[in-house]
Amino acid sequence: QADDGYRLWLRYDPVGAEHLATYRARVTQVVLERESPTLLAARDELVRGLSGLLDTGVASVDRVTQSGAVVIGTPRSSDLIARLGLDLTEAGEEGYVIRSGQVDGHEATIVAANTDVGVLYGAFHFLRLLQTRQPIDRLAIAEAPALDLRVLNHWDNLDRTVERGYAGQSLWDWHRLPGLVDPRYTDYARANASLGINGTVLTNVNANALVLSTRYLEKVEALADVFRPYGIRVYLTARFSAPIEAGGLETADPLDPEVAAWWQAKTDEIYETIPDFGGFLVKANSEGQPGPQDYGRTHADGANMLADAVGDRGVVMWRAFVYSAEDATDRHKQAVNEFVPLDGTFRDNVLVQVKNGAIDFQPREPFHPLFGTMPETPLMMEFQITKEYLGFATHLAYLGTMWEEVLSADTYADGPGSTVADVIDGDLHDYPITGMAGVANIGSDRNWSGSIFDQANWYAFGRMAWSPRLGAEAVAAEWVAQTFTDDPALLEPVVEMMMDSRQAVVDYMTPLGLHHLMATGHHYGPGPWVGDLGRPEWNPTYYHNADAEGIGFDRTDAGSDAVSQYHEPLATQWNDPATTPEAFLLWFHHLPWDYTVASSGRTLWHELVVRYSRGVDRVEAMQETWAGLESYVDPERFESVSQNLAIQRDEAQWWRDASLAYFQTFADRPLPEGYAPPE
Ligand code: GCU
Repeated sequence: QADDGYRLWLRYDPVGAEHLATYRARVTQVVLERESPTLLAARDELVRGLSGLLDTGVASVDRVTQSGAVVIGTPRSSDLIARLGLDLTEAGEEGYVIRSGQVDGHEATIVAANTDVGVLYGAFHFLRLLQTRQPIDRLAIAEAPALDLRVLNHWDNLDRTVERGYAGQSLWDWHRLPGLVDPRYTDYARANASLGINGTVLTNVNANALVLSTRYLEKVEALADVFRPYGIRVYLTARFSAPIEAGGLETADPLDPEVAAWWQAKTDEIYETIPDFGGFLVKANSEGQPGPQDYGRTHADGANMLADAVGDRGVVMWRAFVYSAEDATDRHKQAVNEFVPLDGTFRDNVLVQVKNGAIDFQPREPFHPLFGTMPETPLMMEFQITKEYLGFATHLAYLGTMWEEVLSADTYADGPGSTVADVIDGDLHDYPITGMAGVANIGSDRNWSGSIFDQANWYAFGRMAWSPRLGAEAVAAEWVAQTFTDDPALLEPVVEMMMDSRQAVVDYMTPLGLHHLMATGHHYGPGPWVGDLGRPEWNPTYYHNADAEGIGFDRTDAGSDAVSQYHEPLATQWNDPATTPEAFLLWFHHLPWDYTVASSGRTLWHELVVRYSRGVDRVEAMQETWAGLESYVDPERFESVSQNLAIQRDEAQWWRDASLAYFQTFADRPLPEGYAPPE
């Protein structure tokens, strides 16, 4: 049966015979006493999902009439649930409790929460149990999200192009909104709610002030109305110079009272239109975007002015991705230099949003040195789900492993065991508000993400934003079971392939800590030879520094000294190649071609060749794995994955051969035995 991937992980195809009888006995009806838009969404999802999974109509009723009832609600909306007297403390504002028990003398499953959205999340959790073929007869689950804000960042323009988007056009059909409300918006909301994503920034960080106009706010309102029942708040990017462009003022100086008044009025207008508007995301004084520094003000001046306009109605997410032509030091250091002195000066409703690494969403980066150095300012994580630097939607790279690596990295901010996850979930510094953002990989393609396997990255982002300590492997297994099958004959090899996939990309693009070697502008394919771009830090040559002596970026105290921005013992360890993890060797060091790589005893040149080649081999291994799974996958999805893998195989080779041929002009050494490219 053909399958275009539209249903994502919410497929709800019938479970196999081995589960059907037990599941059917436990699930016969969905019970909802009093309705609200969110509770209806929960009920409808359960009815749709359970009917599909059990291959039989599951009834929707308002009281328990038989055994197998799935009773959903809050103590406020349901007398049944109120009477059960469940302890819902652990569920908090957005979490839930799922219990097996008796209701009115019948066997039942209770999905209860303090809020309607908690019930919705609980409903999706219950469905996931069946989708992943877990037992459902003795449930005692209590869950709550670890982070407050779990937000997608769409880099979508108003003309429906998507910056760094590889999945078609923007989903938002601005031209026809608010008149035409595409049912697809609801499916988008369902998919997000199934993961616990509770916010969406609709517009590009390289912002257009037009979206703040009254006409566009009506369009935003239409989207917000669709998303609201699913617990998703809408946010917009605020172009810092909007008071000039949209307000006709002469300045956007955040300390100018007229500017503040303009933002206040504009923000009030937004809240009149969209009462639960989430707030603003701002990219300022970065890559040519306007910002407070244009007026001699700081990031805090800018963020606080907007935060005052928003007040207790929402938040300002102020990005720390800053780099400017004027700053001659290593771009790696700029965010710490600009933001750490401002620690403690931001309003309570400001979060500083930090990319996972200091350069730019490379296949591998050490964690950003801001994590652990701003105890007085809530830092939220920014991951990039869309694969700008990892082969777009063509190459298969599961990013769960990258995110786990970052989240579990130890910052040593408060001694050992101060992980990045501890920073962003507020544990370490007691942040009053926490969050994680993911740059979306979603577009108008039928399969949403440009490829089937890129759906896994959307999925993993949502799950890890809910629970940053969920391991990448567990998340991959969940996704595979829901997207393909729980049959271990497919699940095990596919999970293994996913777990290995991002390392493959690191190997064939940027092994041993190399970075930013992608071709100019589009960032697809190799371009390490480019060195003539307008600004030094745009040039791959600036990052790899290959010369007759060696290769790598010296960030030690003899170089840019970026290492000093990390806490001890990292600063000392990473200052010395002997104690730097090999994964980051050339990130922090410029080393001679004959430097001995400790793990293998090979020279650096030899090791580079081995790693580049290993990357190609890993893709071949993925191809082989996938080829063996034809009988477990529908032909349409099987073919599309096979074809992408074939492209990836060829392009991995292209990366390897082009990079090595180029670096060889400096290394001036032969390829080691057995590593000649094919004729
Ligand atoms: C990268 C990306 C840009 C984007 C920027 C950002 O540099 O290439 O397209 O605007 O990140 O995060 O602001």
